[in-house]
Amino acid sequence: MPRMLCVANQKGGVGKTTTAINLASGLAMSGNQVLLVDLDPQCNATSGIGCQPVREHPLLETVPIRSNVVDTAVNQLEMLPGSRSFRDADLLARDVGSACGQVISQLESGAAHYDFVVADCPPSLGPLTQTALACADEVLMPIQCEYYAMEGLSQMIEVIRDVIHKRNHRLEFGGILLTMYDAGLELTTEVDQQVREFFGEIVFDTVIPRDVNISEAPSHGQSIMAYSPRSRGCRAYIELCMEVLERD
Ligand SMILES: Nc1ncnc2c1ncn2[C@@H]1O[C@H](COP(=O)(O)OP(=O)(O)O)[C@@H](O)[C@H]1O
Ligand SMILES: [Mg+2]
Repeated sequence: MPRMLCVANQKGGVGKTTTAINLASGLAMSGNQVLLVDLDPQCNATSGIGCQPVREHPLLETVPIRSNVVDTAVNQLEMLPGSRSFRDADLLARDVGSACGQVISQLESGAAHYDFVVADCPPSLGPLTQTALACADEVLMPIQCEYYAMEGLSQMIEVIRDVIHKRNHRLEFGGILLTMYDAGLELTTEVDQQVREFFGEIVFDTVIPRDVNISEAPSHGQSIMAYSPRSRGCRAYIELCMEVLERD
């Protein structure tokens, strides 16, 4: 079975989608079979890697997910596109338990041959994120280096603990990732210190610098590795991939 990584944080704009796309791409480039799953109704991961959203979320359909998986421009990276349909979110909200069951059985039957499944979550702790957590082996939390970085994190951790307790004993804290890092800013170094003091080893050594190339890549439907292979952002995401591989 694949190692399933879920990229989550209830805050928007912290680098979840960017991390999901580039982590999935980097893992694929290092020789792994990877499935990128878009669980956010905004479908940014889908368009960001050059794919099209679908009408209903494939994980909630009764047809096997294989028939909805699409190729991406990255070798060995396939995608399960997102859906903008609110019906999906409604379905999940009504009964997280049975939705989880369906998603898990879809993944078990359709995703078994991948080495990694990387799921991009919406900016909430709602049913979509909880379902993803219930299926995952690890949760990876990007944190933006800003004043309110730590705010809301305890809430997120509570939800994760709850999921571990009630639905998924396998789930682990895969790591906290500092994003939009600007080493020249005092605030960035303060947040860095604070987060590492509080969370210790689960914080990745790798930090993702603020890099305009990273923000431009998705408008070309490309990973940072394809869009700007010499950029600092690219180097950072490759380093992150290596850390994730080492932490296995
Ligand atoms: N390291 C970075 N440097 C510069 N811009 C970034 C970086 N990471 C993300 N961004 C930009 O910040 C915005 C929010 O990132 P995104 O990954 O969409 O966050 P989320 O999925 O958590 O809402 C996007 O416009 C993205 O391109
Ligand atoms: Mg996003």
